[in-house]
Amino acid sequence: MTRALITGISGQDGSYLAEHLIEEDVEVHGIIRRHSVAENQDNRLENLPITTHYGDMLDEGSLYQIVKQVKPNYIFNLAAMSHVRISWEMPAFTIKTNGLGVLNILEVIRQEIPTAKFYQASSSEMFGNSVDDDGYQRLTTPMHPTSPYGCAKVMGYNLTRHYRNAFGMHASNGILFNHESPRRGSNFVTNKVCKTAVEIWKGKTEVLELGNLDSYRDWGHSYDYVRAMWKIVNQEKPDDWIVSTGITRSVRDMCKVVFKYLDMNYEDYVVQDPKYMRPEELRYLRGDCDETMFKLNWLPTYQFEDMMHEMVDYWKERL
Ligand code: GDD
Repeated sequence: MTRALITGISGQDGSYLAEHLIEEDVEVHGIIRRHSVAENQDNRLENLPITTHYGDMLDEGSLYQIVKQVKPNYIFNLAAMSHVRISWEMPAFTIKTNGLGVLNILEVIRQEIPTAKFYQASSSEMFGNSVDDDGYQRLTTPMHPTSPYGCAKVMGYNLTRHYRNAFGMHASNGILFNHESPRRGSNFVTNKVCKTAVEIWKGKTEVLELGNLDSYRDWGHSYDYVRAMWKIVNQEKPDDWIVSTGITRSVRDMCKVVFKYLDMNYEDYVVQDPKYMRPEELRYLRGDCDETMFKLNWLPTYQFEDMMHEMVDYWKERL
């Protein structure tokens, strides 16, 4: 049976990917870190027929042990310190986990299972404020990251390309633009807005404190983006891919959509708080995904509004 190993399986993308691979008849293994509240270790993975292993991207011994035991045909490296603003509070940890961690898993693959197919979760944050003249980012756009998180992701991206070129490994990068879902952490802006808007709607709180309302993001759905990951690793030749919707919106526009769905006006509730501003802001993201859509025969199924409504409905039920 085909076996896949997912690092970061307990995250948003890890859980959607695990579900998709199970549908594809893949035996799924995942690496989780020990958490003091046991329920938080794998609460997105409840009832999934998968095998989890304790490990860490910085504990090379654990990676060797797991890879030797599982012998996966596919490795998806989704493990990361994934919050950009928090990367200024723990820059060294971010660089180690998101940069050195990629080297660690690539080395294990090179030495133990060199023919396995590897996917690296690269990020549009790597572009920083570089935008092509036509208003898009693409594979040829220079990478000038504006956060410790982005710098570390550039390192992981380059290592993946290097191991592919130097050692002939089937190692690919998916450069994913922002992607959300009800499983998104509630300290990322989309789910923070949905959760707090529902709290306001239910009379539990009065204001929503945000940082920069005028940054633009190209937001898709994690459900769709993990399907692109599976197509990427199944290409005959390893390569780098942009995964995005090609549509960009401001944080302000996103707030409008969410509050309108609850019959409210965001201007009555949203206030700006400097504590959520970033030392250097990535102002604008819009990915040119034409080649990916064409060559991978991949199309997102979710519209932006439907995704935001799904997230609001989730919090209506949950809170
Ligand atoms: N989190 C957060 N909280 N963001 C806010 C807030 C707030 O209160 N107010 C405004 N924002 C703005 C941020 O300044 C940023 O411009 C935008 O909302 C999106 O922030 P996040 O949702 O935190 O995502 P991100 O773009 O920084 O990073 C996400 O996307 C990357 C891909 O581009 C993460 O998923 C990364 O892991 C991913 O690589």
